Amino acid sequence: MKIKFGTVAENITTRKEFPLKKAQQVLKGKTIAVLGYGIQGPGQALNMRDNGFNVIVGQRKSTKANSSWMRAKKDGWVEGKTLFGIEEAADKGDIIMMLVSDGSVPQVWKQIEQYVTPGKYLYFSHGFGLVYNKLTGIKPRKGVGCVMVAPKGSGTSVRRNFLSGAGINSSYAFEPNGMKAKQVEDVTKAIGIAVGSGYLFPTTFENEVTSDLVGERGILMGALAGVMEAQFETLRANGHSPSEAFNETCEELTQSLIRLVDENGMDWMYGNCSQTAQHGALKWRPEFKKATLPVFKKLYKSVKTMQEAKEVIRDTGCPDYKERMLAKLNELHNHEMWLAGAAVRSLRPHEAAKGGSDSAGWGGRKVVKAK
Ligand SMILES: NC(=O)c1ccc[n+]([C@@H]2O[C@H](COP(=O)([O-])OP(=O)(O)OC[C@H]3O[C@@H](n4cnc5c(N)ncnc54)[C@H](OP(=O)(O)O)[C@@H]3O)[C@@H](O)[C@H]2O)c1
Repeated sequence: MKIKFGTVAENITTRKEFPLKKAQQVLKGKTIAVLGYGIQGPGQALNMRDNGFNVIVGQRKSTKANSSWMRAKKDGWVEGKTLFGIEEAADKGDIIMMLVSDGSVPQVWKQIEQYVTPGKYLYFSHGFGLVYNKLTGIKPRKGVGCVMVAPKGSGTSVRRNFLSGAGINSSYAFEPNGMKAKQVEDVTKAIGIAVGSGYLFPTTFENEVTSDLVGERGILMGALAGVMEAQFETLRANGHSPSEAFNETCEELTQSLIRLVDENGMDWMYGNCSQTAQHGALKWRPEFKKATLPVFKKLYKSVKTMQEAKEVIRDTGCPDYKERMLAKLNELHNHEMWLAGAAVRSLRPHEAAKGGSDSAGWGGRKVVKAK
């Protein structure tokens, strides 16, 4: 259906137009092999399994506690039946879902290319593998349908929103690559519905990877954490307590304001706060925009010139990546703001009752150590 987003009308596919029953018909008899059981892998694989699709998981084996392999077993995937090594799963799959880390794609592609034969579909949740094929080496043979469904949220949310019934919005793109376009489009949309998307909106592989890399480096994670730290540290340097600095920087945002922005928009938020807050926010908004606009322009250029992709492959494709990242993740974990945050979260009535927010339940790797 056509929906107007501001001034531009876009074609949206909802579960009404493409119900789960239709998705099940389109994918009937097909084995869906999810390669990688990191963050997106579990979310999408479990949702599809619960939705009645024929899903298997391909994951490199490890007996280490909390390894992806062991987490897959814990989630009910059975070795030799629904859980295999990466190559075996790729061999068995009609739809091969590349949900390994982007940095490992060049290596994994070499392992599985022989199994990605005409008539099969190669799926991604990111444009990375195909758009940067000069770096990843991915050039599917003619007759392999290339499809992408990119959930606009963490794999943890893909699962949680599925369980709550909310769903998560995803963008989609497809490249028939010698197959019938309508058939590939239907398979793309069917997977989008199968993994639990709320609605699907069209994009291109190129636009997806560009906006996604900018978004996560920008407002969604990089900019957000950076701006939060800047405010927290300013308050702390001026004698405010960690608790006060955290509440004014993060807690009020996540527990109150952003929820209202989610429900009603920022315009409503500006109209429904104190006059003091409204006056000050209207005055300082352009200052922050002016200060950060050059950084966003620099970031966009770094993505467009493939600098970001080159660094991802160089730095995350190496075997000791996890150990090397741990130091940086530990630094973030042990920042006074997030230590204060853990204490603030443990005081929330519902968290205190269940023993702290670390017992958050499904999803998430434990990767950091407290000091
Ligand atoms: N994270 C998100 O929420 C999100 C959101 C939207 C789209 N995406 C896209 O979804 C895809 C998967 O992302 P992700 O975040 O779930 O991935 P991830 O957590 O970064 O990837 C982890 C998976 O890749 C495997 N892996 C890493 N190096 C490997 C290697 N050398 N050989 C074989 N397997 C290897 C890991 O196995 P081990 O555990 O054994 O290392 C694990 O199964 C990416 O294209 C990403 O851009 C992710």
